[in-house]
Amino acid sequence: METDDINSITVLGAGNMGHGIAEVAALAGYDVRMRDINQEFVQSGYDDIEWSLNKLAEKDQISQEDADAALDRVTPLVDIEESVSDTDVIIEAVPEKMEIKEDVYAEVSEHAPDQAIFATNTSSLSITDLSEFTDHPEQFCGMHFFNPPVRMQLVEVISGEHTDEATLDVIEELAEEFGKTPVRVHRDSPGFIVNRILVPLMNEACWLVHEGEATIEEVDSTTKYGMGLPMGSFELGDQVGNDVSYHVLEYMHDVLGDAYEPCPLLAEKVENEELGKKTGKGFYDYENGGADVPS
Ligand code: 3HC
Repeated sequence: METDDINSITVLGAGNMGHGIAEVAALAGYDVRMRDINQEFVQSGYDDIEWSLNKLAEKDQISQEDADAALDRVTPLVDIEESVSDTDVIIEAVPEKMEIKEDVYAEVSEHAPDQAIFATNTSSLSITDLSEFTDHPEQFCGMHFFNPPVRMQLVEVISGEHTDEATLDVIEELAEEFGKTPVRVHRDSPGFIVNRILVPLMNEACWLVHEGEATIEEVDSTTKYGMGLPMGSFELGDQVGNDVSYHVLEYMHDVLGDAYEPCPLLAEKVENEELGKKTGKGFYDYENGGADVPS
């Protein structure tokens, strides 16, 4: 398949990343089917896309006409067969559990066209292992976006052991069509490149606070104003979702060893469902003003 042959894109999962990827594809002019397991999830993702497009229009980053047209190109769906039949590219952004992905991939294999290219937005799981749940591992690769997808430039394009060069070419060109900058990742190692660096940084920040060495505000102030990151590391954790960082760390801990042990402070946030912006509370309280990192 060539990029010119792509008309229809399916995004599986309407959560933070799924709806953001669907928005990016629709803004680039593609018809997008966005699927989640129930009407409530898919509607919530659709509402988030509408909010984001209107925000971009409000700030004159796109016209209101383009925002409305992009929203019109998104079809929210629950039925898996309707979501993947006749599609050209499937981008999976379902929760980071191997069992969940395995079940979804079995359904995709049953209903998707043979020639469809299948990419995963996994944050860290092995592309090779995931590809083995599909009928066409050579047409499978990683396409890793960053949160929030509509604002972040980078896309990691990750090869598994079975991935064809042609598949990587198409996904790389598609990322460019989306207005992004793809970077090819040749080694399918946990966390790929960005999360291998970024998630341990966020974990180390948690250990500092957990061990009483610094406060959340002190850490964020230094990472934001001293290290030049756009957000403090706790603000960033709340942006990506504390559950996401925790799952990446759990996986890196299993595969790479003790240096990646998730900090109990992060585990506690996940247990208390204080997942960050998406639940209204994480390290900061977004219902009462959110982060206000001192300079
Ligand atoms: N759509 C539209 N508008 C959005 C938005 C979205 N999805 N998300 C935020 N905004 C809006 C906000 O509502 C706010 O609007 P307001 O000014 O009216 O209140 C505005 O954008 C925020 O703009 P700011 O001027 O305050 O901030 P910037 O524009 O300078 O930057 C940012 C925002 C791009 C999010 C920047 O802070 C940033 O780059 N942060 C770091 C994000 C990052 O590193 N992400 C990667 C994390 S790792 C990851 O995702 C991998 C995963 O696998 C874990």
